[in-house]
Amino acid sequence: MTLLEVRDLTVTYPNGAAAVRGVDLSLDSGSKLGVAGESGCGKSTLALALLRLLPAGTEVGGEILLDGEDVLKMRWGQVRAVRWAGASIVFQGAMHSLNPVHRVGDQIAEPILLHGGAGAAAARKRTGELLEQVGLPTARARAYPHELSGGQRQRVMIAMALACDPKLVIADEPTTALDVMIQAQILRLIEQLVSEQELGLIMISHDLAVLADTCDRLAVMYAGRVVEEGPARAVYEDALHPYGKALSGAFPRIGDPASRFAPRGLPGDPPDPSDLPSGCTFHPRCPVALDGCEVEDQWLREGAPGRRAACVHVGAAVRSTT
Ligand SMILES: Nc1ncnc2c1ncn2[C@@H]1O[C@H](COP(=O)(O)OP(=O)(O)OP(=O)(O)O)[C@@H](O)[C@H]1O
Ligand code: SF4
Ligand SMILES: [Mg+2]
Repeated sequence: MTLLEVRDLTVTYPNGAAAVRGVDLSLDSGSKLGVAGESGCGKSTLALALLRLLPAGTEVGGEILLDGEDVLKMRWGQVRAVRWAGASIVFQGAMHSLNPVHRVGDQIAEPILLHGGAGAAAARKRTGELLEQVGLPTARARAYPHELSGGQRQRVMIAMALACDPKLVIADEPTTALDVMIQAQILRLIEQLVSEQELGLIMISHDLAVLADTCDRLAVMYAGRVVEEGPARAVYEDALHPYGKALSGAFPRIGDPASRFAPRGLPGDPPDPSDLPSGCTFHPRCPVALDGCEVEDQWLREGAPGRRAACVHVGAAVRSTT
């Protein structure tokens, strides 16, 4: 069943930065979508837009249908309800945002008391269950954040995200600040929770290898657009878009010693969203650009069944250019 359908989403910050420029996404319950791309390509902006968490004055267009209802058209009361019970975000480095002077159990219980309508005893019981679900002993509820390791704090953040039984979890770089072993544990935990509870998951990372390992489908973003989308393994191992190829080449493949010595890094930086290149925005960095690429904008085209990429070298256009 379709849980989330994003249509032609655009986000322009008050300073004119066009950070998201016509993104379409779809996510079923119980499935995991990875969103990849270099720093500044609009991944967090997309995540924040889904729950209307962008700064005042930001222009947002398009549709964000959560269970068929457009989040962008909801009144504030509905948006607040969605933020607690419909969808929740685990932020980049969020484990540092736990309140240092409150016990973690009280911090997990707070949204259950406020938004779940539970009494103190029921909230305490639920907190214990959530801690166990994320692999922490119930007794850790009495700990203060500084008494926990980084991995344990991130587990607490995940417990908080699950506190009101959301249908959708958005994880924005949930493991970036953790070491590799703990990162793997947290990723397995997220995977397990998604499959047990039939949640929808959007996992954001700049690391395609992590996403390919965790997610069913992958969307690769560049300059505020999805430039490639398809089954996660296929996109990682055999990207259709030159940017997707470069991005997957930029990370070593597990078990492939050769890739350690030959990462295909990409020259230059992603463009400034206030001053985007003409035509295909990737053209200044593209190793296979053609003469027309400076002029002609590109939208996703069908490259193979279930796979799309926004490049002149890929299939036939399925959406008219603007
Ligand atoms: N509040 C803001 N006002 C103006 N521009 C912003 C704001 N927040 C982000 N941007 C710009 O929007 C673009 C996209 O930023 P965003 O944080 O979504 O990127 P990202 O893909 O999440 O990057 P990272 O991997 O570094 O987290 C960037 O160019 C950024 O400078
Ligand atoms: S459309 Fe042109 S510039 Fe853009 S990715 Fe394809 S070949 Fe490169
Ligand atoms: Mg980000």
